[in-house]
Amino acid sequence: MREQLPPQTVVIFGASGDLTKRKLLPALFQLHDQGLLPAEFAIVGYARTPMTDEEFRDVARKAAAEFCSNPPGDDRWRRFAGHLSYVAGEYGAPWAMAHLADYLKAVEAPMREPPGRFFYAATPPGAYPDVVRRLGEAGLARGARIVFEKPFGHDAASARELNDCIHEVFDESQVFRIDHYLGKETVQNILAFRFANGLFEPVWNRRYIDHVQITVAEDIGIEGRGAFFEQTGTIRDMVTTHLFQVLTFLAMEPPVSFDPDRLRDETVKVLRSMMACDPSRVVRAQYTGYREEEGVSRGSQVETFAALEVAIDNWRWAGVPFFLRTGKRLARKASEVTLKFRSVPFNVFRETDMGLPRRDHLTFRIQPNEGISLAVNAKKPGPGLELGRVELDFDYDTEFRTPILDAYELLLLEAMEGDHTLFLRQDGVERAWEVLAPVLENPTRIVSYEPGTWGPPEADALLAPRRWHLWKG
Ligand code: BG6
Repeated sequence: MREQLPPQTVVIFGASGDLTKRKLLPALFQLHDQGLLPAEFAIVGYARTPMTDEEFRDVARKAAAEFCSNPPGDDRWRRFAGHLSYVAGEYGAPWAMAHLADYLKAVEAPMREPPGRFFYAATPPGAYPDVVRRLGEAGLARGARIVFEKPFGHDAASARELNDCIHEVFDESQVFRIDHYLGKETVQNILAFRFANGLFEPVWNRRYIDHVQITVAEDIGIEGRGAFFEQTGTIRDMVTTHLFQVLTFLAMEPPVSFDPDRLRDETVKVLRSMMACDPSRVVRAQYTGYREEEGVSRGSQVETFAALEVAIDNWRWAGVPFFLRTGKRLARKASEVTLKFRSVPFNVFRETDMGLPRRDHLTFRIQPNEGISLAVNAKKPGPGLELGRVELDFDYDTEFRTPILDAYELLLLEAMEGDHTLFLRQDGVERAWEVLAPVLENPTRIVSYEPGTWGPPEADALLAPRRWHLWKG
């Protein structure tokens, strides 16, 4: 049971943007609807576009209707909408946020105690340094928390520069770098599965695991974000962030406690043990038709798919390849992790007609069909000795019957509570860029793939003779 939060003011920078509409406003509405926001709270949208409070509420209502799993009826909406307001303003000019400071004072005056202040930088990342400086000048940084949406820089040097700029105004304890994959129940459950059960940890290493696969496949394309994607590409958008975070949870050592910094010490250690990726083990591909999308250059060399092998050079994982793949416009949406165990050391059934036992594997289904399954061999009923493949399966839906909290809802709450456990630390972000530097600096040749497939044949060749695995094919 969560404790009721003290009063809060949330200011969203980039309030007229896509992230605010798709994720932040729907998440805040749903938190309010579930009684998880404090009784006294204010949500202030801030962006350059001129808008009245009423117009901002309209935008928010449409967003909630489109993106909430439980869209608002009139009464539920009215109760929430009263907390929303909007301030138009600039980012670039010195002192551009002085009026925001006055506005917040007025909004917070009726609250019974001084509220926690919480800023969300949902602007294009290029505006982060301005947001930070303007907040500093206006005296708004003191005692506040600030959340930054990824990407944090576009390489190690720019990430360091951004972190330095942030630290001129905010202390690291005030900073929350979001990677929404860490807000997914199923990703957090990797830690519960590993560290709350004694069964698997002894085999979670190079002696028993042949290789690890992480797939984050999307059936959607770039969804009108051509300009953003041209600057970013799949490696920056998905690999340095979501896939690496999932990998750190899979590969980390048990932390000494669940204290945010002890946990993050361990995830950062994984990134430090990763060898810089070898460009010859990276496949970059682009779906046919990408270059015709709005905002995309006709000769674009930006990847919409990436598959790569990475290595973790430490005691536990030396010699175990980690294969990662992610892409847009693939056959279906599926985010999964599979650990393939080694074959049995000796086949005691070799003189029977049982055949060669297949390798066991464990699959975490991050989304959809959230769950975990362990595929093992079993004797088929009947005379003789024939092997069949069976699955021991856990499915969230049938087991818990509790709707899974959206990642953004959870992370907004955690940030308001000041808990850093599920947020990225500066050193981890910088190290993730270093691991991928060889391919970011010298991108490998791009190949193409057809929409609706699983990517180019080069991605299959990367694993061969092993094969990519997905639950139920
Ligand atoms: C975002 C990326 O961080 O994650 C998007 O910028 C991507 O390109 C999205 O579509 C995927 O998130 P999810 O939760 O739908 O897997």
